Amino acid sequence: MTTSHVTAQAPGRRSGDADTPVLEVRDLHVEFKTREGIVKAVNGVNYSVRAGETLAVLGESGSGKSVTAQAIMGILDSPPGRVAKGEILFQGQDILQLPENERRKLRGPKMAMIFQDALSALNPVYSVGNQLGEMFRVHQGMSKKDAKAKAIELMDRVKIPAAGSRVNDYPHQFSGGMRQRIMIAMALALEPDLIIADEPTTALDVTVQAQVMDLLAELQREYNMGLILITHDLGVVADVADKIAVMYAGRIVEQSPIHELYKRPAHPYTRGLLDSIPRLDQKGHELYAIKGLPPNLLKAPSGCAFNPRCPKAQDICRTDVPALLPVTETDGTELAGRSSACHFWKEQIHG
Ligand SMILES: Nc1ncnc2c1ncn2[C@@H]1O[C@H](COP(=O)(O)OP(=O)(O)O)[C@@H](O)[C@H]1O
Ligand code: SF4
Ligand SMILES: [Mg+2]
Repeated sequence: MTTSHVTAQAPGRRSGDADTPVLEVRDLHVEFKTREGIVKAVNGVNYSVRAGETLAVLGESGSGKSVTAQAIMGILDSPPGRVAKGEILFQGQDILQLPENERRKLRGPKMAMIFQDALSALNPVYSVGNQLGEMFRVHQGMSKKDAKAKAIELMDRVKIPAAGSRVNDYPHQFSGGMRQRIMIAMALALEPDLIIADEPTTALDVTVQAQVMDLLAELQREYNMGLILITHDLGVVADVADKIAVMYAGRIVEQSPIHELYKRPAHPYTRGLLDSIPRLDQKGHELYAIKGLPPNLLKAPSGCAFNPRCPKAQDICRTDVPALLPVTETDGTELAGRSSACHFWKEQIHG
């Protein structure tokens, strides 16, 4: 890859001026109409990602991470799902206002998604070379021969050994880790400005997880893309993300540059997640687990949705929803990029 990929203003990129985020989600609400009632899956999410930046979105299963991603990509299961409110600005433009045929054109060349399960995301009856090549045939009108050469090049990029001889193999002939690399290659093919990777390594063995995550991080830097990395595992994102948004019950409860979050979490839920990460130096100790389960989103608890599970909960937590507010030092200095939705964030971060 040439160095032209290293700056946000590189030729051929429509990233706009460097200050405009690639993606900005504003006050997003997504709900599902079910027989039991309205499930409020996403309740006012705000986050943004710039070119060359990695945002990790963390939270237990059911917190609304994937639904937010599906709303961004325009692949929400609709009905029953619908965006009830909010804006999704892609390179400054609210894509929720675009007709479906315009949104479809963004998928592939502008934004792409990597799913957890490559085996169901890839088509079992076509060779991987065929599926990779299709990206170039359909979007760039390339000949079959050139598209195949491009497919091999991409397989090389994602470090699939002997790409030239494996290009005609089918998805099931690859290992889980190699299939995930093929999905990364598919996502990268048209050099989009944004990639959303939804639990990209969850289905893999721990050692393969790290290799795939490193590869993704390396390619993200090289292509200067915005990357949203969705995970339920705080341990997985530590080395690759710049910043993090912690989600609970469809809301962001804490935002922070990644390393500061590890040092000083400003929300009891984040504290709980950090304490549940297995540590090599604490072998034999019983691992902490946050008690209880995430709420049913048909009827989330009143006040702070985390209150039934929170060791720090007080009366106000059962009545008043805490707003996501900037976090400051004890002398009032704002901590850049940090915010918390907890009535008692001061005690959590400074206590
Ligand atoms: N197709 C659907 N129909 C009804 N409810 C759904 C649907 N998809 C997701 N949800 C609801 O949205 C919530 C958030 O889901 P999701 O974003 O997939 O969570 P996660 O954070 O694990 O990715 C789920 O708990 C579920 O209640
Ligand atoms: S607002 Fe209350 S219940 Fe919610 S996280 Fe903070 S202390 Fe816990
Ligand atoms: Mg999910």
